Amino acid sequence: MILPIKKILISREELEQRITSLADEINQAYRGEELVLISVLKGSVMFLTGLMKELDIDVEIGFLYLSSYQGETAPQTKINHYHLPFPDIKNRNVLLVEDILDSGASLACAFDICQHKEPTSLKTCVLLVKKDCKKTKTPPVDFKGFDIPNEFVVGYGLDHREKYRQLPYIAVPDISD
Ligand code: IMP
Ligand code: MG
Repeated sequence: MILPIKKILISREELEQRITSLADEINQAYRGEELVLISVLKGSVMFLTGLMKELDIDVEIGFLYLSSYQGETAPQTKINHYHLPFPDIKNRNVLLVEDILDSGASLACAFDICQHKEPTSLKTCVLLVKKDCKKTKTPPVDFKGFDIPNEFVVGYGLDHREKYRQLPYIAVPDISD
């Protein structure tokens, strides 16, 4: 298997350290309460499992499947939403877990879907925020992993044409072909 990369942007160790401290922040914020983690598939699945392992509050998990990239490296305007079994989040604390904020459209869409289900509270946890991300119509990021340059990145769940998700670090792929 050859997944060519140009450079590693965030190492496995840096990811693990930051995710542990993010989990500490979440543990403090929801101490004594129950939390539903909603993971936006597929990109956030590795982030979700990394985070969950460090949480010591009661959590339930659920999934939303959104897709805006059609195998390309530039955002598409249309976002597809697929229905999956979803927990009842009415009157519960919900934390949306997202891999990356680029245009912010996916997070805004996931936020709206959850908001309509009337949770007690709705917050967001995002691993990577691109520097040029337009924050105007995007919900606030309550728990943030890293700010990154405006480059296309892969690994730790993020793909290019469904490849690279398995890398345990964040990298800039070599996709010059
Ligand atoms: P947004 O809606 O433009 O913020 O893009 C969000 C979704 O597009 C993310 O949840 C990712 O699945 C995907 N995406 C955005 N930027 C990248 C990237 O640099 N690499 C891989 N996927 C990305
Ligand atoms: Mg995503």
